[in-house]
Amino acid sequence: MSQVQTPALLELRDVTAGYAQDIDVLREICLRVDAGKITGLIGLNGAGKSTIIKTICGFLPPKSGTISYEGKDISGIAPHQLIDLGICCIPQESSLFPYLSVQDNLLLPLLGRRKQFAQVAQTRLQEVFALFPVLHQKRQQAVGGLSGGQQKQVEFAKAWLQKPRLCLIDEPSIGLSPRVSEEVFVWIEKFAQAQMGILLIDHNVRRVVRMSDRIYVLSLGQVTADGTPADFQGDLHQQVQQWLGLNF
Ligand SMILES: Nc1ncnc2c1ncn2[C@@H]1O[C@H](COP(=O)(O)OP(=O)(O)OP(=O)(O)O)[C@@H](O)[C@H]1O
Ligand SMILES: [Mg+2]
Repeated sequence: MSQVQTPALLELRDVTAGYAQDIDVLREICLRVDAGKITGLIGLNGAGKSTIIKTICGFLPPKSGTISYEGKDISGIAPHQLIDLGICCIPQESSLFPYLSVQDNLLLPLLGRRKQFAQVAQTRLQEVFALFPVLHQKRQQAVGGLSGGQQKQVEFAKAWLQKPRLCLIDEPSIGLSPRVSEEVFVWIEKFAQAQMGILLIDHNVRRVVRMSDRIYVLSLGQVTADGTPADFQGDLHQQVQQWLGLNF
């Protein structure tokens, strides 16, 4: 008997996209992210993982296919509309202003938007400082003077402050020590426990497979496999090892 699937928080259907008119970097991508779940995306360098996030966020409109979020078509949305929709992106590169203080970096996305956010900003700030006590200590310091791990904390705290329903996270552990990377993965699990839908890209394939509810493998712009962590214990596990040239 076929199972009835609940509607996805985010669903890509047959999405084709690319930076040049005649070159498709993504080809007919089908992928879903559910509320409260972690969807992992793995693949070799240049496979198109970050391009998927850029396409969802409207930086690269799809040439064909649809992107739906909470049942509405958001294909080709303007990136500045994301925050109002409850979509947040934690990019691989820093999104912080190095000369601004921790507190100003945290509040900027809220205070720069609607007046109603100003009222809740202070309450949320206290909530975030309870989750990330180091940031409370360093709230008046310029972000540029913090360690890489602390700057990552600011990125995650900023995302938490926006209370997104969907969080797109690109290579959060890159450049971090194994201990700090593990902290980052635990925050991501916390985000999912708070009912956010997570799309997670990371080179730590073993950790992504372990923590995700569903994993997609991307190769040369196409989804070549998908499954649950359990599926990756069998044949798929060997295939992914081969595709990624890794032992895990
Ligand atoms: N701004 C751009 N203009 C043109 N081509 C681009 C641009 N950004 C990425 N590409 C190309 O698109 C392809 C996919 O790149 P993408 O950054 O999405 O890969 P990735 O899977 O995220 O790789 P990595 O693991 O290195 O982050 C690559 O061939 C890349 O060179
Ligand atoms: Mg990338």
